[in-house]
Amino acid sequence: MIRLAHISDLHCYSPTYDPRQFFSKRWIGNFNALFNRRLQYDAAPSEALIALFNELNVNHVIISGDLTTTALGAEFETARRFVDNIESTNKQVYLVPGNHDTYTRASLKGKIFYKYFENQDLPFTMKEGGIALRPLGPRWWWIGMDTSVPTPLFSSIGRFSHSIEERLEEALQSIPPGDKVVLTNHFPMFSTIHHSHDMRRCDALRAQLIRWPCVKLYLHGHVHRQSIADHRASGLPIILNSGSCGFKRRATFHTIDLSEKSCLVRVYSRESQGKDPCNWVLREEAQFDW
Ligand SMILES: [Fe+2]
Ligand SMILES: [Fe+2]
Repeated sequence: MIRLAHISDLHCYSPTYDPRQFFSKRWIGNFNALFNRRLQYDAAPSEALIALFNELNVNHVIISGDLTTTALGAEFETARRFVDNIESTNKQVYLVPGNHDTYTRASLKGKIFYKYFENQDLPFTMKEGGIALRPLGPRWWWIGMDTSVPTPLFSSIGRFSHSIEERLEEALQSIPPGDKVVLTNHFPMFSTIHHSHDMRRCDALRAQLIRWPCVKLYLHGHVHRQSIADHRASGLPIILNSGSCGFKRRATFHTIDLSEKSCLVRVYSRESQGKDPCNWVLREEAQFDW
């Protein structure tokens, strides 16, 4: 059995007063961080979460993007320290970028995310082809996708491009028959009523995944509202959105127990009552058999 923790949308933030922010859309995210986000989110992830992962005997941690708020170096350093602290407890961290990790054109062009979080797993390096492929444990594989793109002001779209589609096909073809896959992407695979927030060509991703039943789970973030949706009747994977673990109140994350025949998802939420702000409690469980 492999036990994963799935967290997302940490949104580490570090307000800046640098006037150069007005040459990019960073001023919007910074303004929002100063007057709105800091009331709702912790500036850095809670270290209590790492202690909890140890208590829960978590083997690996998956982070589905938006580690930062405006892709600022100081925010990446905070996120990198958090990941280092998880890794120092003998866990592997599997992560993908979100739209906030490529917030400005310069951060996307300079691939700043990969200066802090570069995967070296040949031949699938996410920095080059947008797809990472790593073993998770016996007969289970992790595939991560980078679908972030440059976005104009007030837009936070992603794009499942033709080249990522081709690279995903290559990765799936390399999975040994009978093995199973956990696919992680920042964006949901269905569009919403908020078109400026969706991933483009998500219909192409769904059409591709219907051909690959070895993909059992699709983990995403972006929508800061936890959800579990079983789409197997439509030939799609079980879709898990862990919500945001960065909230001061109503933060959530999942643990996922993977075995050959089943998967058990547990939802943890950070309760706002009481004196301890880091009081994580088990809220619900969902079991799925293959
Ligand atoms: Fe987010
Ligand atoms: Fe996002």
